[in-house]
Amino acid sequence: MRFANITGWGKCLPPAVLTNADLTTIMDTSDEWITSRTGIRERRITHVKYSELAALAGKRALAAAGLKAEDLDMIILATAVPDNMIPNGASAVQDQLGAKNAAVFDLNAACTGFVYGLSLATAMVRSGSVERVMVIGVDGIPFYLDWTMREVSVLFGDAAGAVIVEPSDTASGLLADKLGCDGDARDILMASDSGSVRERFADTVDGLYAINFEGQEIFKRAVRGMGFAMNTVLEKLEMKPEDIDLVIPHQANIRIIETLAKRLNAPMDKVMVNIEKYGNTSAATVPVALCEALEQGRIKPGDNLMAAAFGAGLTWGACLVKWGDRITPLGECDDELPACDKTALELLQPWVDGSRKANEV
Ligand code: UT7
Repeated sequence: MRFANITGWGKCLPPAVLTNADLTTIMDTSDEWITSRTGIRERRITHVKYSELAALAGKRALAAAGLKAEDLDMIILATAVPDNMIPNGASAVQDQLGAKNAAVFDLNAACTGFVYGLSLATAMVRSGSVERVMVIGVDGIPFYLDWTMREVSVLFGDAAGAVIVEPSDTASGLLADKLGCDGDARDILMASDSGSVRERFADTVDGLYAINFEGQEIFKRAVRGMGFAMNTVLEKLEMKPEDIDLVIPHQANIRIIETLAKRLNAPMDKVMVNIEKYGNTSAATVPVALCEALEQGRIKPGDNLMAAAFGAGLTWGACLVKWGDRITPLGECDDELPACDKTALELLQPWVDGSRKANEV
């Protein structure tokens, strides 16, 4: 039987760090509130285009897999922040990588995008229609935020993570998944005028997106959606929670992660957590956490990894990945992002000023 193993992995975190203390200088909040309610201590703000974060994560994943960009048949870019809507964001990544043999497209499933993308890549590799696929989760919800809304602005950061999926004869890679979406509740997490419903040329159009965010309802549905998806995956594989070696959950709130762990009866040392460093990076949380779990030696050959995510849509999903034989990269990529000469607060200032101005109107 043909399987679809993960053979390469890479991440890219922009260097500018926005701390909770920084946020207290632009809004009425506190380190104590943010840390106790969310687990987040700091997040990153990008000084380059999102495609550049994605391409560098992708280069690192290619090096880890020992592949060249020309070897790729497909790039799936899970994102809500393509550089342009026309053409797609994935074409910018293809161009920067030089992946001239790859078909490319964007996948918008918000925070669940990487899990959706891995599922799709796996199905295509297993079917034999493609050989080598790069799946990237890159996001930047800070771009959409109204920086006067403290209940949302403290949560998000920028990042990218990528994996390479290749055929394998042994049972490895994504073995089962469950994906879904509760479209009837799509308005509780929404940048409501971020697409073609936005009235062009209206007097009110000013660069501010109208954000709907019902935190407590999203919280409940996140626990329900990811819990249901994980249990369904376990049932499909006739596995028990104790068969999972490491849970790699979406990093939206430490309290959501702890609630899920309790429901799975999993001790927290079997759960990958890095929310304190990066906040919620949407489609990038799962691949970045996967990379860090490997870097920290928390994944052994043959381990059963359960990834789960939840986001706007309201999309949700989980997948069981059986890790292959190799837990170290075949090669390293020496490329770095261009140096950043601004602080995170300086990078944010135009968005903070713009949000304040738009709210005064
Ligand atoms: O990626 C998937 C999408 N996102 C999520 O999954 C997020 C899910 N939701 C959550 O993580 C939580 O609901 C939040 C972290 C967003 C909010 O936590 P909460 O415990 O549900 O707080 P709350 O909204 O009930 O607000 C409690 C209080 C309010 O004050 P009052 O009414 O009790 O006086 C808020 O005004 O906290 C206040 N508050 C803040 N205070 C300081 C809200 N935001 C802040 C803030 N700093 N940043």
